[in-house]
Amino acid sequence: MGVGVSLHPLAKAVAREGGIGVVSSACIDRLVSRRSGKKKNTYEAAYEEVSLSKVKDGFSGINIMMALQRDYADSVKGALDAGVDVIISGAGLPLSLPAIQTPKDTALIPIVSSARALDIICKKWEKLRYRPDAVVLEGPLAGGHLGFRIDEIDLESNRLENLLPPVKEMARKFGDFPVIVAGGIYTHSDIARFMEMGADGVQMGTRFLATEESSATESYKQAVIGAKEEDIVVAHRPGSPCGLPFRVIKQSPMYVSSLQRRRPPKCDKGYVLMKDADGKYSICPAKEDNENYFCICNGLLSSSGYNSDKEEPLYTVGSNASRVDRILSVKTLMDELTNAGG
Ligand SMILES: Cc1cc2nc3c(=O)[nH]c(=O)nc-3n(C[C@H](O)[C@H](O)[C@H](O)COP(=O)(O)O)c2cc1C
Ligand code: SF4
Repeated sequence: MGVGVSLHPLAKAVAREGGIGVVSSACIDRLVSRRSGKKKNTYEAAYEEVSLSKVKDGFSGINIMMALQRDYADSVKGALDAGVDVIISGAGLPLSLPAIQTPKDTALIPIVSSARALDIICKKWEKLRYRPDAVVLEGPLAGGHLGFRIDEIDLESNRLENLLPPVKEMARKFGDFPVIVAGGIYTHSDIARFMEMGADGVQMGTRFLATEESSATESYKQAVIGAKEEDIVVAHRPGSPCGLPFRVIKQSPMYVSSLQRRRPPKCDKGYVLMKDADGKYSICPAKEDNENYFCICNGLLSSSGYNSDKEEPLYTVGSNASRVDRILSVKTLMDELTNAGG
């Protein structure tokens, strides 16, 4: 959940340099309401953030996680009405995405971690008379939630290099749409290597987290700079209430206190609630259980400076965060990534 990290300042800067700047829809109503001093619902906030991220001749995007069920449709509608160029959706299979509202010129891009997941999505979307405009293949080195079981993360067969050929094959089968790879890509030569292997583009998270334009707090950015390889762990029991492994810096204050069960369970944000038998959004394992789950909504909001006086931050990063040693501007980073030698 790129909560409050990937907002319009970062997305706009990336779009200005020729990339697709992607805002995160997670918790967007609270973040935009606080910034504007006016209460905005999810639809309005998604609309506003996408609108603010647009640049002339550039591309705007939004990431909307399936795990955010309660706000999913409103985020999609707000982004579409604002004319977003790209919706990227994962953390679950976005099976109904094309059915929410006619996407018109907006590209719909699911995120998968296997060819099988892509097969399931394409078959479902075919029934809705839609085909993915591209797919993001996210491997196990990524930041945020990982689309693998905890015991599958280190398998040789799940290395991004090994996942790419079958996913490329599946994309060909359903119309040869582009495959964008993500997870552990750090340098220009990493990009070139994956493009030579057949990828059509890359998605990057961690390096952009450590930019001047990212809205992560200064302490988050400093934690990324200070993180050593052994400090980056995949959190699982305690882990994310979304049920997926989640990569963190192990010194993150909320992770440390959750290992010691210091924070009493309390649900006051509700972004990852699932429906109960009556169709009400009331279920989140972190509501009652602080042994196996941390309160991800509060931890990530705090990492972007929201309520940081009341809740401890949780720092998510990709495995390559240990290589980050300084904060760059997006322009410097994009120049480095697009030039051989970077
Ligand atoms: C701080 C942070 C927040 C992220 N938030 C999201 C998110 O909200 N939704 C999502 O699909 N992926 C999210 N990701 C994953 C990235 O979109 C990206 O695929 C991944 O981090 C790529 O690996 P890299 O960090 O090694 O470049 C996040 C990653 C980071 C580092
Ligand atoms: S318990 Fe915490 S993580 Fe779960 S929905 Fe409520 S605020 Fe979010």
